[in-house]
Amino acid sequence: MKGDFELLERDGLARICRFETAHGKVETPAIMPVINPNRKVISASEMRARFGVDMVITNSYIISRNRELREKALKEGVHGLLDFDGTVMTDSGTFQTHVYSDVSVDPSEILEFQRAIGSDVATVFDVFSEPDFTLGQAENAAAVTAARVKEAMSSKRGGSLIAATVQGGLYPEVRERTARRLGEEAPDYFTIGGVVPLMEEYRFADLASVIIASKKGLPPGRPVHLFGAGHPLMLPLAVLLGCDLFDSASYVKYAYDGRMMFPEGSIALSDLKYSWCDCPVCSKHAPAEMASMDENESVLSISEHNLYILTSELKRIKQAIHEGSLWNLVEARARSSPQLFDAYAEVLSHSNYLSRFEPMSRRSGINFVDGLSLKRPDFARFFASASGIRPGKADRLLVVRGERQYFSHYDFTSSDIGEDTASLTGVGIFPIQITETYPLAQSNYSAAMECAEKPDSYSARFGYGAWRIADGRWRRMGAGANKPDRLSQALIVCEYQFGRKYAEALLSGDVQCTYSRNTGKLRSIMRDGRQLLFFRTEDGLFSVKFHGGEVLHGVLAKGTMSVECSDDAIPFVSVGKSLFSRFVTDADEALRPGDECLVVDRAGNLLAVGRAVLRKEEMLSFGKGVAVDVREGRSSSASSRQSEDTK
Ligand code: GUN
Ligand code: ZN
Repeated sequence: MKGDFELLERDGLARICRFETAHGKVETPAIMPVINPNRKVISASEMRARFGVDMVITNSYIISRNRELREKALKEGVHGLLDFDGTVMTDSGTFQTHVYSDVSVDPSEILEFQRAIGSDVATVFDVFSEPDFTLGQAENAAAVTAARVKEAMSSKRGGSLIAATVQGGLYPEVRERTARRLGEEAPDYFTIGGVVPLMEEYRFADLASVIIASKKGLPPGRPVHLFGAGHPLMLPLAVLLGCDLFDSASYVKYAYDGRMMFPEGSIALSDLKYSWCDCPVCSKHAPAEMASMDENESVLSISEHNLYILTSELKRIKQAIHEGSLWNLVEARARSSPQLFDAYAEVLSHSNYLSRFEPMSRRSGINFVDGLSLKRPDFARFFASASGIRPGKADRLLVVRGERQYFSHYDFTSSDIGEDTASLTGVGIFPIQITETYPLAQSNYSAAMECAEKPDSYSARFGYGAWRIADGRWRRMGAGANKPDRLSQALIVCEYQFGRKYAEALLSGDVQCTYSRNTGKLRSIMRDGRQLLFFRTEDGLFSVKFHGGEVLHGVLAKGTMSVECSDDAIPFVSVGKSLFSRFVTDADEALRPGDECLVVDRAGNLLAVGRAVLRKEEMLSFGKGVAVDVREGRSSSASSRQSEDTK
C-alpha cells in the first residue's frame, strides 16, 4: 500500500527497508539524484535503466516559476515532465530561500502545486535553520515549520505523501523536541534539514549530533531523509545513525567543477593520473581522455562516474548491514578524514542511546585494531555485562591475539605457568566459560592492542587463575585455573544473556547438557527430559525453546522479556508463525533487536517464544513487517516434542 514502510534487515540503527509509493517500491537506504528540470544532464529514465534508480527528487519551486515547465507539469504530471515512471519526490523551495534571500513562497500554494503535479512525496515548505542561528532563531524556524506541517496534515487529501522537515539549527534539544512534535502530526515521511552548510564545511561531528538528536524524537517506523547530504564520504555514518534516504545534486555539481567522487573523498580530474575505478565510464576512458573531452561530454562522463560511485557505495553499505559489519566499515572510513573521525568520536559519545538498538550478536565479528573498537556500543554492552560476572570459582580468560578459529582447538591439558605477561595484548579479561560467545570468538584482534588488565594483576586482585589463548591453544597463566565444565559454561552464558536470577531458575532441578560428538561443543540444555535451551554455535548464545519459555514465564516479573499481542494474532503465533508489528499491543522496554523474548496474550498467557526483531517503540510504530521471529508456539511445541534437538 502507498506509504508503507517495512523493515527487511537491520544492523543496530541502520536498516534496509522497503518504502512504497503510488509509483512502486524503493529499497532503502537509497540516494535520489536531484533532477534540475532546466538542466537535465542525465535523463531520469536513463538513471533508472543504467543505475537502478527507483526514486528521484526535483524542485517544485523551480517548476512553478517557469511557465513552460509549469504548464507541462500540470498537464502531464511531474512524471511526464521528467519522463520517469518511478517515485518522484518534490522539494518546496526552502533551499532556494537559503541560497537566495529574496525568494518568497506561499506555503499552502506550493504544497497544492506539488499535489497538482502528482508528486509522490510532497515537502511542506519549511524554514531553513542556519548553523549560526541563535537558540531563539532556531526555535522559531522549527516552530513555524511544525505549524505548517500541522496545517498540511489537517488539509491532507489523497494523492501525495507528506514530508515534514526537522529544523532546529545546532541545538540538539530543539531538534529532538521538534522531531517529536512533527511525529505527533503523523506525516508519511521525515526529512532532516538545515544541514547542507555542515556538509559544505566538513562539520561532520555537528552533522552527526543533529542526526542523532533528530532520530531520538522521530517515530522509528517512518522513513528518514537527510536533506542535501549526497557525498559518499558521509553515507556509511549517516546510514549507521538510521538515515534511510539521501538526495544528491553533488554528482552534477562536482562534475561541473571537474571533480570525481570516490568513497574516501573527491579528486580533481586534472590530478587523476591512475583511475582505479571500474565503472563503465572509467573502464572506457582513461582520465586524460576524459579531461580532453569537450565540456558537455566531460560533465556527462564525470556525472555518470559520480552516480556509479554513489550507488555502489550504497550497495556496499547494504551488504555491510546484511553482514552486520557496518560499524567495521564506518570505523575504517573514519580513518580517511580527521573530520569524519571527529564525527565518529561524537557518535561514540552517544553510546547509551545507540546501545538500545545494538544486538547481543552480529553475523560479523569486531575488528579490534586499537582501543577505539573497545568503545563500540556492542562491545561496550558485552563488556559491561560479561565483566560483571564473578562467580565463586570461575577462571578468567584473557583474550589475546590468537587465531580466528581458536575456539575450535580446545586444549585444556597444556599449561605454561610463568609466561611473560608483560607483552600480552588483548581486549580484556572475561569468564573462560564465555569465550564461545559473541564477540570474543567471532572477532579479529590486532597484536598491537594493549590489554587493559594483565592476568597476573587480575589474579592478585580476585584470586582467580587466568587462561590465555595463543596459537590456538589454551595456556594457564596462574595458579588456581580449573578446566570449566559444560554446565558451568551453560550457567555463565545464561547469566550473561538473561541475568543471574533467571539463569539459576532455568538451570535448576533435573538439568542435563548434550553436546556434539564431533566438536565436543555444547548443544542443548535438557530439563525434565525436554529441550529447554539450544546453544547456537554461530554466536555462542542460547535460543529459548518453548519449555524454556514456560520456565522463564513462571519466574519473570509480569511483562519482562515479553511482547504482548492482540487476540487476532493468537491463532498464528500459537502455531509458530511470525508476529507482525501491527498486532503488537505492548512490549518490554528493555528488549533489544535479536533478544530472546516471550510472546504473550493480553492476559499475560504464554503463546510462543522467539527473537525480537524490533524494539518496543519500533514495534508500535512500524505498520508493516515482522516484530518477533517466532521460534515455537504453544501448539507447535506439543507436536514437536518427539523431534526435539533439531532447531
Ligand atoms: N534541501 C537541502 N536542505 C534543505 C532543507 O533544510 N529543507 C528543504 N526543504 N530542502 C532542503
Ligand atoms: Zn568511474
